[in-house]
Amino acid sequence: MKQLLAVAVGALLAAGTGAALAQQNPTTLAKGVCSACHGPEGHSVSPVFPNLAGQQPAYIILQLEAFRGHVRGDPNAQAYMWGMASQLGDDTIKALADYYAAQKPVPVKALDPALMADGERIYTQGIPTQSVPACASCHGAKAEGAGAFPRLEGQHVDYLVAQLLGFQSGVRSNAPIMLAVVRTLSPEQMKAAATYAASR
Ligand code: HEC
Ligand code: HEC
Repeated sequence: MKQLLAVAVGALLAAGTGAALAQQNPTTLAKGVCSACHGPEGHSVSPVFPNLAGQQPAYIILQLEAFRGHVRGDPNAQAYMWGMASQLGDDTIKALADYYAAQKPVPVKALDPALMADGERIYTQGIPTQSVPACASCHGAKAEGAGAFPRLEGQHVDYLVAQLLGFQSGVRSNAPIMLAVVRTLSPEQMKAAATYAASR
């Protein structure tokens, strides 16, 4: 983690001032700056940093606008993405979204098999007794996402669980749809659903 941060800070220093960041060609920016945390082609190493490869472009645009506007305000968003996004203009945001959407999603690995059966049930059917809707109804049968609904397939399980906890605790407060979805989910149910979704 320390090492990753040192790399990230190095990339930021190399990128220079805000003005220099904004003027960079978006592909250069992705490869030279975003990659310090999100990895080459959006395949990151640490689950603190979400994979961006194959993510829905509309979702990426909405998130970068939410970081820039300080409305996605969980602690990691504030620490890592507020400053980053403050320097991005609308055209650059759109180009970055197209760049990451065009990258190959991270290949699906076999994940904890013990969680898969519970995860599949929650993902495909929801939990009617807890008023939890089926995740598939918005995120898609293969968890590929669509428009403002993010891809979950190929994402770090720990990142997905952290976001679900963030919706529930209210630290990621700008997503009323997900707030309603996770209200009654236990941490174990989150882990199961995230594991199934990530490995579609
Ligand atoms: C210093 C590390 C760092 C750098 C550099 C960085 N990011 Fe991030 N980014 C993060 C972290 C951490 C998160 C997760 C925030 C959270 O947990 O809410 C994130 C989240 C995101 C998300 C939301 C993804 C999702 O699934 O919700 C997008 C989109 C994003 N970053 C794009 C970019 C782009 C584009 C760049 C380059 C201009 C960039 N980031 C540079 C650390 C970084
Ligand atoms: C009614 C539609 C809907 C349903 C049902 C739904 N989601 Fe979502 N989900 C969304 C939307 C919209 C977002 C993006 C929120 C935002 O804009 O910040 C999202 C975001 C997420 C994220 C954050 C992803 C990221 O990259 O940061 C996770 C994790 C997630 N959903 C998991 C689930 C799980 C697990 C279920 C089932 C228990 C589920 N969702 C059900 C609409 C839905």
